[in-house]
Amino acid sequence: MLKEAIATRYITPLREGGSLPGLVEADDHGTYVIKFTGAGQGRKTLVAEVVAGELARRLGFRVPRLVTLDLDPDLGLGEPDQQVKELLRSSGGTNLGMDFLSGALGFDPLAFSVTPEEAGRIVWFDALVNNVDRSWRNPNLLRWQGELWLIDHGATMIWHHNWPGAEASAARPYDASDHVLKPFAPDVTRAARELAPLVTEELLAEVTAEIPDVWLADEPGFDTPDELRRAYARPLLARAAVAHERIEGIK
Ligand SMILES: Nc1ncnc2c1ncn2[C@@H]1O[C@H](COP(=O)(O)OP(=O)(O)O)[C@@H](O)[C@H]1O
Ligand SMILES: [Mg+2]
Repeated sequence: MLKEAIATRYITPLREGGSLPGLVEADDHGTYVIKFTGAGQGRKTLVAEVVAGELARRLGFRVPRLVTLDLDPDLGLGEPDQQVKELLRSSGGTNLGMDFLSGALGFDPLAFSVTPEEAGRIVWFDALVNNVDRSWRNPNLLRWQGELWLIDHGATMIWHHNWPGAEASAARPYDASDHVLKPFAPDVTRAARELAPLVTEELLAEVTAEIPDVWLADEPGFDTPDELRRAYARPLLARAAVAHERIEGIK
């Protein structure tokens, strides 16, 4: 289970991306990036962050630690910004938090070099979870303490928006032609050899167990949160074996 903390102060919005995540302080004295349950696609975005983020972490990638943040919607009462106020008001209860990497820089492919090995691992992972959000326009990679960190997995696994077609959709090609790491000659064959065998049923059970029940409840077609957890695991397990063959546009 993810660690639980309580948001105690809203500090500021992070305006770079589209979803208006914010910076908050919590009762454990941590500073977190908060992703709101009331934003855009709502809780499915948060589920995608947890599944992809916790899977990436277990495959050896650097991902900021994830927590759940309990939010009292009254925290927004004094907010002058109407958009922020609405977001806070509609996000009472369980939200997602991640460790704020203070001083991190956005990844700039012209200023920082990545080995074919590391580039291959990241492109392979993005193909596994169908991540459309790692383009040169929008890298969602941070440089922190000299290393690359993966963030923003809310737009992965778009197949979870249509469960009846999920397994077929998850088998589709992955277009990496706009991927920010394309210029670094990503060695996806090597990545597949090293990473695919790690994506087992057991690992995926561990990963999906991290999703808070409240974000899984009352999904049409599913009786229990655990049934839905297994529905997340299945397409990922099937795709792990073939993800590298589905990558297009990097040659
Ligand atoms: N854990 C973090 N540490 C430091 N900065 C972050 C962190 N997460 C996000 N950011 C900053 O906030 C921006 C927006 O966050 P992101 O997760 O990409 O959300 P979105 O693109 O959906 O708005 C990022 O581009 C980055 O600059
Ligand atoms: Mg982003």
